[in-house]
Formats: sequence, C-alpha cells, structure tokens
Amino acid sequence: MGIAVRAEGIYKTFRSGWWGRKQKEVLKGIDLQIEEGEVFGILGPNGVGKTTLLSILSTLLFPDQGKIQILGMDSLRDGHRVREKVNISSGNANFLWSLTAKENLHFYGMLYGLNGNHRAKKINDLIKLFSLEEHQDIPFDRLSTGMKQRLSLAKSLLNDPSVLFLDEPTVGLDPSVSITIREQIQVIQKERGMTVLLTTHNMKEAEYLCHRIAFLKGGEILTTGTAESLKRMIRVGDVVKIEFKGTILEDELIRADGVINYGISGNLCEIIVDDGERRLGNLIALLSQGDLQIKKVTLGQTDLEEVFIEFAKNNDSDMGLCD
Ligand SMILES: Nc1ncnc2c1ncn2[C@@H]1O[C@H](COP(=O)(O)OP(=O)(O)OP(=O)(O)O)[C@@H](O)[C@H]1O
Ligand SMILES: [Mg+2]
Repeated sequence: MGIAVRAEGIYKTFRSGWWGRKQKEVLKGIDLQIEEGEVFGILGPNGVGKTTLLSILSTLLFPDQGKIQILGMDSLRDGHRVREKVNISSGNANFLWSLTAKENLHFYGMLYGLNGNHRAKKINDLIKLFSLEEHQDIPFDRLSTGMKQRLSLAKSLLNDPSVLFLDEPTVGLDPSVSITIREQIQVIQKERGMTVLLTTHNMKEAEYLCHRIAFLKGGEILTTGTAESLKRMIRVGDVVKIEFKGTILEDELIRADGVINYGISGNLCEIIVDDGERRLGNLIALLSQGDLQIKKVTLGQTDLEEVFIEFAKNNDSDMGLCD
C-alpha cells in the first residue's frame, strides 16, 4: 500500500482587520500520513481548524508553510493534477441555489470535463445511489438538509476520486438518515478502495467508519490511533457490574488479575478492572467457586465520547483573535 496523503509541517494563520493586524494562528505544524484505502478521521473541538486542514489538503486553501503530497503528487505545485484525483463533500455545502439537484450535478459534471452520454449516465447512477430520484428536479434552496447532503456526496463522486475528503458528512441529519449515509460511505469506500479523510463530531460515526483517528487541538495533532488505542490511553478501567445472590469471595476478588478496585452494595458488586473483555471470564469463574449465584453481568467500557471530552479539556483554541 502506498501513501495517499502525506503532510509535513502545515502552518496556517488567518489575518483580518486593518493591515491584517489581527491574527488567528490555526494550524501550527501538522504532520499526517494516510495510507491508500484508509479511512482516517479528524476529531477536535469547534474552531480548532479541522475544516481549514481539510481545505488545505484538498487544494482549496494554501497553507503558509508546509509540504503536501497527494498520491505522490506535490499538491502545492501540481494542484491541477491533484484535483483530478480528489474531491470534497461538506455537510454545509452550498450549491447554485436556483438550479435543481440534477442541474447542479450537470454543472459540476461539466466542470470535471464529463461529456454527453457519459455525464448523463454517471449523474443518473449517482442520483440512484443516493436515492435522489424524487428530488432531482427540485431547486437546491428548496431541498431539505438531508437531500443537500446527499447531493453534496453525489457531486463528490462525479470524478471517481481516489481520495475523498468529507467535512462533517452527517451534520444536522436525523439519526436514521445519518446511519444510512454512514453505511453508504462505508460501502462506496470499500467497493472503490478509496482513501477517505473525514471530520466529524459524531463519535459513533468516527468509530464506525475510521481505521485511525487523529485528535486536533491547539493547532497540533495531539495524538493518532485506532479508536481502541485512544480509549486505552485515557482508560482508568472498565466497570463490571454483577448482580448476585449468596456471598462474594472478597479474598479471591482482591487477588484476581486486573482488578483495580471493587465495591459491594446489597446484591450488587461493582468491580473496576483494567480490561473488561479480557478479565470478565476469569472473574466470573473465580466468583462462582463459592455459593454465589450470578443473576446478571454488565460490562461498562470507555467510549470515544469520553476520550473526546478528556482530550478536549482545557481547550483554548477558539478563544478568538489576538493581536
Ligand atoms: N477565512 C477565515 N478567515 C478568518 N478566520 C477564519 C477563516 N476560516 C476559519 N477561520 C477561523 O479559524 C479557526 C478554525 O476554523 P475551522 O472552521 O477550520 O474550525 P473547525 O475545527 O472546522 O470547527 P467546527 O468544528 O466548528 O467545524 C476558527 O477560529 C475560525 O473562526
Ligand atoms: Mg469545521
């Protein structure tokens, strides 16, 4: 597998006000390496620069400093060639408001150099793929948020991109539509072997779609890893809750591998262990030695939401502009 996206030392400062005196340093040396066929998620609090980073990587914005290679091409020098191989879809996409969904797709299709029957067939296929049939003749400004999102995804596949950037692809959608779109993204990504770089505030989405996740904060990538490895980084332990009848063998519990702490209250025993899935079987076997009858066992694990909150603590990235 080759490297699809390689970014080194990306810096970006936005300047505004008189003579650009107000500055907002958004990205402060981003390094990224994403393999071909990988789905890579960028998480981080509001205003940390996720959209800015995606815009830079997809050639929509120039960085102040840094190097970017997309599929081996220098994206700062060779933006035109890179744009043939990438595309971007935003959850807050804006299209030509008075054109219908289908007309918008034709407009972008023409920009991508698709002609005649080939363009018509491609657009019809995409309309079908994203269930836009009944909405294809409605002007963009009268489409619902969900339909706008589908249109944006359809547009982003017009040039059969090898690298697809998705900026919050399910923002503002109801849960069932979000799930459908997420599943579609996964199917399309697998079928085409596309590299996908996405931002999201939805932790389930990140966990469902992404092979690896990076956490952006303070202008830098704080950490990168699989959802599991990120959870392990902040985990104080998993909680095993056991509802029981009889007597808990506390001596056994104290000596059991992986037990960090425990508490017993009435018929409920809560045990904090280092790794719930790994320790559960052994714990139950140990406790079942006496007269104990286990009524119910539940395992509470760290979820990505908790990881996000932990990493986002003391975030000062969106404190506004500074002189
Ligand atoms: N064109 C611009 N001019 C000036 N400041 C900008 C510009 N674009 C973005 N910013 C500022 O840069 C910072 C990063 O913005 P960006 O949209 O990349 O954040 P984000 O992580 O995508 O946030 P969100 O989670 O809310 O989508 C913000 O403080 C924003 O106000
Ligand atoms: Mg954003």
